[in-house]
Amino acid sequence: VSKELKAGIVGAGYFSRDHAKAFQALGIPIVAVADVNPQAAERLASEFNIPQTLTDFRQLTKLDELDIVSVTLPVFLHAPVAIAALNRGKHVLCEKPMAMNAREARQMAEAAKKARRFVAYGSGRSRYGAAPETAKALIAEGKLGQLYRADGRHIRRRNRPGIEYQPDTAWWLDSRKSGGGIAIDMAVYHLDLILDLLGWPAVTTVSATTFQGIPHALPKGTRYDVEEDANIFIRCGNDLSVSLQLAGAGNIAYGSDPRVFDEVVVLGSLGGVRINPFAFFTEDMGIPVEVTPAWLNGEGGTLRIVRELVRAIEHGGPPPATTADEGVRLMEILDAIYKSARLGREVRLDG
Ligand SMILES: NC(=O)c1ccc[n+]([C@@H]2O[C@H](COP(=O)([O-])OP(=O)(O)OC[C@H]3O[C@@H](n4cnc5c(N)ncnc54)[C@H](O)[C@@H]3O)[C@@H](O)[C@H]2O)c1
Repeated sequence: VSKELKAGIVGAGYFSRDHAKAFQALGIPIVAVADVNPQAAERLASEFNIPQTLTDFRQLTKLDELDIVSVTLPVFLHAPVAIAALNRGKHVLCEKPMAMNAREARQMAEAAKKARRFVAYGSGRSRYGAAPETAKALIAEGKLGQLYRADGRHIRRRNRPGIEYQPDTAWWLDSRKSGGGIAIDMAVYHLDLILDLLGWPAVTTVSATTFQGIPHALPKGTRYDVEEDANIFIRCGNDLSVSLQLAGAGNIAYGSDPRVFDEVVVLGSLGGVRINPFAFFTEDMGIPVEVTPAWLNGEGGTLRIVRELVRAIEHGGPPPATTADEGVRLMEILDAIYKSARLGREVRLDG
């Protein structure tokens, strides 16, 4: 270890605590926090003993002693703040979704390349942990055979960000600030995990529908223009597809918790895996068997992303998930999802 790394946080809202906890758990001093709302900055500072509070993120990115900047801001501010930090030679951990669109994600990737710094994205959380890493190991061992399909389903009965979930964070409801609804907010997690498990195949077409129309009791005049439901079908060539169903609110429940259901499955010719709860489906002596491990060990969450980021900084690569280039690919698919839904037809991504 060449020197002690130091972190700063921009955006002191709900999720900043998750980043602060991760830095603290890894013994990385948080030297400053910036938020346009001084009370929010003070609150985080007093909870985590952060010596300096600022209201302008530019002041934070200029601090020489900083090595890592966490971006826990509404989505429309991810790219400008991350790029400002990268241009100042900081490594960045940016929350998901990485940006409003692929154009912004490309600018972030370029800034990271130019500055020779890492930018990692919060959607990498879906890839780290016992279940996804066990799935990845089984696939690498060939236990699934030829992969042909992956499905993700994230269904909340009533848990729309800005309405039932964190009702005081209104920016989620305004597409100019959030980039969209449940698709951009949650499909990035499933896409990140699934594409990584599939080995980042080239996506050929994207087809999607979105829906908004579940009743709400928002005050009259509130801008609310983001989808509550998204149904997505993605082709990766002719014999590999990904399908995703997402709802922030919907009149259905799956699984044991009626409030939220989250599942990813990957199917191959020889076996299949389900993540959450983890199971491996295969055949043994011609008998269909379902393997559920007695236990699995593994570290996930933001803690793991920060650990991987620190490792990358101190040892020089490999870059932490989700990398800048993967972020661009994810945002290209997200753009295609919204384009397909808008146009009412399939969108080609292979030219
Ligand atoms: N809340 C969650 O459960 C959760 C989970 C995973 C990821 N995330 C991601 O974390 C990010 C932040 O979400 P959140 O729930 O913490 O939102 P939030 O609204 O609670 O926090 C955002 C903070 O940013 C501050 N802010 C706004 N404009 C600013 C500016 N120009 N400069 C500095 N500060 C500014 C706000 O005052 C607020 O304190 C989002 O990208 C979200 O997708 C959130």
